[in-house]
Parts: sequence; C-alpha cells; structure tokens
Amino acid sequence: MGIEIGSGKNGLERVLVLEVARVTEAAAIAAARLRGRGNEKAADKAAVDAMRRELAKLQIRGTVVIGEGEMDEAPMLYIGEKVGSGEGPEVDIAVDPLEGTTICAKSMPNSLAVLAISERGGLLHAPDMYMNKIAIGPGYAEGVVDLDASPADNLQALAKAKGVPINEIMACILDRPRHAELIKAVRDCGAAVQLIPDGDIAGVIWTTDPDETGIDIYMGSGGAPEGVLAAAALRCIGGQIQGRLIPSNDVERERAQKMGITDVNRKFRIQDMASADVIFSATGVTDGSLLDGVHFRGGFAETETVVMRSKTGTVRRIKTNFRNIGARFIG
Ligand code: FBP
Repeated sequence: MGIEIGSGKNGLERVLVLEVARVTEAAAIAAARLRGRGNEKAADKAAVDAMRRELAKLQIRGTVVIGEGEMDEAPMLYIGEKVGSGEGPEVDIAVDPLEGTTICAKSMPNSLAVLAISERGGLLHAPDMYMNKIAIGPGYAEGVVDLDASPADNLQALAKAKGVPINEIMACILDRPRHAELIKAVRDCGAAVQLIPDGDIAGVIWTTDPDETGIDIYMGSGGAPEGVLAAAALRCIGGQIQGRLIPSNDVERERAQKMGITDVNRKFRIQDMASADVIFSATGVTDGSLLDGVHFRGGFAETETVVMRSKTGTVRRIKTNFRNIGARFIG
C-alpha cells in the first residue's frame, strides 16, 4: 500500500492540496509583476524565489527531483535540494516556477506557475533535455495512440475511437522548425494543427477537455521535465501520455544515466513518469485558456489556480484574492 502524502489518519494530504496551491499562487504573483518587461530571467527568478519561500513553510521533508537545474548551475530549487520545514512526510517535488518564461516576458497567453508533489520516488527524475511526447485525454482505450506509430496512424486511430472523421481532429504542436515534418504529416492526413509558441504542459492538459479547448491530441518534442509535470496532471485528471528522451549528445546521455535512467531509449508511459499518488497545482501568470492570469487591482491581486489530486481525481479551481500583496510577496 502506498504511503499517503502527508498522511495522518484524517488526511493531512487534503490539507496539502491547499498548501501547494499557495506555493504556485505566490510564484505566479511574483512573476506577474514582470509580465511584458522583456526580461525572461528576472521573471523566472522572481517566480523561483517566491516558490522557494512558500515551499519552506510546508510541513514536509521535500526533495526537489525536477527543478531549475543541477546544483552547480542553479542556486535555488536545484535538483536534490531539500525543501519544506524538515518535519512531516518525505515527498518528492517537481517544479516549474515559470512555465513559459518567454510568453511571460512578452505578456502573451498561457504562462503558468506549476508544481507537483508525490510520495517519495513517485516522479521520474527527468533530466533537462528534450522528450518526444504524445498525449490524449481520458475515455480512450489504453494504447489507442502510440509514440512509435506514424502521425497518420495515430490520428486515424484517434478519429476512429472518437467516432469522428479525421478532419475533425485537432493536434496541438509547439511552433518550432524541428516540427515542420510532423506538422506537414498531420495536415497531409486531413487533421488540423494548433500551433503554440511555448508552454506544452498546458498543451497536454488541453487534450483532457477537447469540447472546451478544441484540442484532441498533443504531439511533438518539448522539455522532459515538462513531460513529467504533464504526466502528473494526467494521472489526476485521466488521459494518456507517452514520452521518450531525446539526448542530443553523450553528455546528455550520461546525465540521464546519472539520474537513474539506465535505458535512455525507453518509452515512458504515464505510470512510469508519475508512478505514485500525486498532487498537481498550476496558477495562471498571464491570461490563458487553461487559467486566468494574475489580475492586480489596487493593493489586491486575484489568482486562478487548478489543483488536482490523483488519489480522488478531484480537480479544484480556486480563485483567490490577496490583500497586502506588497508585504507578503516581495522577497
Ligand atoms: P521555459 O518556460 O523554460 O521557457 O519553457 C517553455 C517551453 O515552451 C516548454 O513548455 C517546452 O517544453 C519547452 O519550452 C520547449 O523547448 P524549446 O523552446 O527549446 O523548443
């Protein structure tokens, strides 16, 4: 039987749901102050600082397994950093304090502050490199799409399973030159493509509500850490994701092995990337179709957060109004 996150008999785990929401709220507010300033680094740093300050208040013995980088390259929220009060359950933490640094710096839609927390050992220690990904929402038979199948086969299988013609299928793909062939293949078989400038965690999550988002499938390569965070979200909401690392040289191959991935060619499924109970939280930084961004009104800030818990499958949307934001959120 898995250890419950934060388990006391009466489900401290449930309290943690609100606690992790506080963490992404703080990161989002800090980053939102730097929206549209053209300074990715400053916005990311503000989010990292705020997230770290809030994490320190949690009654956990946390270890960052997905963070801002290796210890020697990231001063804060580095992989292996211990966070939390030092008391309470041992948990693993994956963070992306500012997902979509460029979109935040340009004040464009869909940048988020993101965090997942799991039982010890419950999240894949994904190195910072590209991962090839494919994801669909809930309600489909396992394996209806597969990373190793061609785009045409996947889209045909998905259309058949959904009971629609292929020209009603929309794939979400990061707008990158490396995806030119994939985009062409999708369009050639009659499906449509929604290109996004950044932010593939949201891209994956959109597949879970195609009626609302119009997106049926996420395809293409993006960050491996973002792949694990997306898998954590799908473990809570339902859906399927597969990923395979794309190390570009021996240094990256060695890095993957150092992080415990013995077979770098392995195809990871959702249960490999998020293998235990997990709580996922994301707060909007800029307005987007997943979440509203932070709205400042005088001395107030309003945030929107989605928090999900895999144990129950509960998905909460929380609108929070903060007063005295100056005192609380400036480090
Ligand atoms: P950052 O927030 O680190 O800028 O990441 C944004 C993002 O778009 C991710 O969502 C995605 O996984 C990755 O970058 C794709 O990488 P690249 O920009 O190199 O194609």
